[in-house]
Amino acid sequence: MRFISFVYVLAAVATSKTLAFSSDHTGDQHQWIAPSATDVRSPCPGLNTLANHGYLPRTGKNITIPMILKAAVDGFNVRSDSILPGAKLGLLSGNAPTTLDLDALKLHNLIEHDASISRNDFALGDNLHFNETVFSTLANANPGVDYYNATSAGQVQYARLADSIARNPNVTNTLKEFVTRSGESALYLSVMGDPLTAVAPKKFVQIFFREERLPIAEGWTRPKTLITPDTTGPAEDIIRAASNWTPSQACEDVVLGPGITI
Ligand code: HEM
Ligand SMILES: *[C@@H]1O[C@H](CO)[C@@H](O)[C@H](O)[C@H]1NC(C)=O
Ligand SMILES: *[C@@H]1O[C@H](CO)[C@@H](O)[C@H](O)[C@H]1NC(C)=O
Ligand SMILES: *[C@@H]1O[C@H](CO)[C@@H](O)[C@H](O)[C@H]1NC(C)=O
Ligand SMILES: *[C@@H]1O[C@H](CO)[C@@H](O)[C@H](O)[C@H]1NC(C)=O
Repeated sequence: MRFISFVYVLAAVATSKTLAFSSDHTGDQHQWIAPSATDVRSPCPGLNTLANHGYLPRTGKNITIPMILKAAVDGFNVRSDSILPGAKLGLLSGNAPTTLDLDALKLHNLIEHDASISRNDFALGDNLHFNETVFSTLANANPGVDYYNATSAGQVQYARLADSIARNPNVTNTLKEFVTRSGESALYLSVMGDPLTAVAPKKFVQIFFREERLPIAEGWTRPKTLITPDTTGPAEDIIRAASNWTPSQACEDVVLGPGITI
């Protein structure tokens, strides 16, 4: 079976549009500030980090697709085509025609899926907030070295899925979730590490998940390499192979756009 990543195939429809960016993560405007009691956050550590640094509205509400695309390139140097399908799907999480609220992204089986690396399965409890017990699989991965890589990311995915299959009689585990999970793992390695090698310091990855903070004080800098489907594709191939995946259910083709079917 050949697996096609929804980000990877999108290379074919990459736009050449260049978005303006600022690499200043430390100015007043982009300080890390924890969300207030009325601010909302998502099951996505990437979007939450962007909101905590003011690249997205700190309220987490009324967010448009152009805001997400600009925040991703400004904050992480992630090009729009790597996240556009996810951003478009995200609009289905609520009733507003052109905006989304971050907390609505917890809607189960839209983008949110079982066997996450930092959140519980929907049927097991809280699928929105970071959970240290769930995250411990990733935290303890790749022992003996101070970095995570595509091999360890795939092994983490295998272990997290095994846990879900063992404990969650409602687990959803189809090609759709597998493709999404592998894409997300390639993203954390890329935004916290070197997008060309998909090697990321453990310290940076742990701060990204636990605090939803850019680890600038610890030495992280915005990736100099633009992150695109072409840069994450090779890492996704290794992640998928290392995750030794088998489906629990079949799914129908997922159509994401003209010529884009997984
Ligand atoms: C800006 C770049 C982005 C990065 C670096 C990123 C990173 C990640 C990572 C690492 C996860 C896995 C979390 C886990 O398994 O516990 C994740 C999950 C998620 N992301 Fe993102 N993401 C990005 C953009 C987006 C966009 C644009 C959307 C949609 C609007 C989105 C929606 C989600 C959702 C709903 C989940 C939860 C999936 C689950 O674990 O159940 N992300 N993201
Ligand atoms: C934000 O969205 C909410 C609905 O989610 C709406 O009631 C409110 O008017 C919106 N605010 C702005 C400034 O667009
Ligand atoms: C789990 O699946 C069973 C059977 O389909 C259903 O009755 C139950 O409501 C589901 N529970 C959750 C939390 O999804
Ligand atoms: C964190 O996840 C573990 C494992 O699923 C669960 O037992 C625990 O209750 C969760 N903690 C919180 C605060 O939800
Ligand atoms: C990831 O790191 C481990 C431990 O150093 C190593 O055995 C493995 O080959 C690495 N994987 C890749 C893809 O470099």
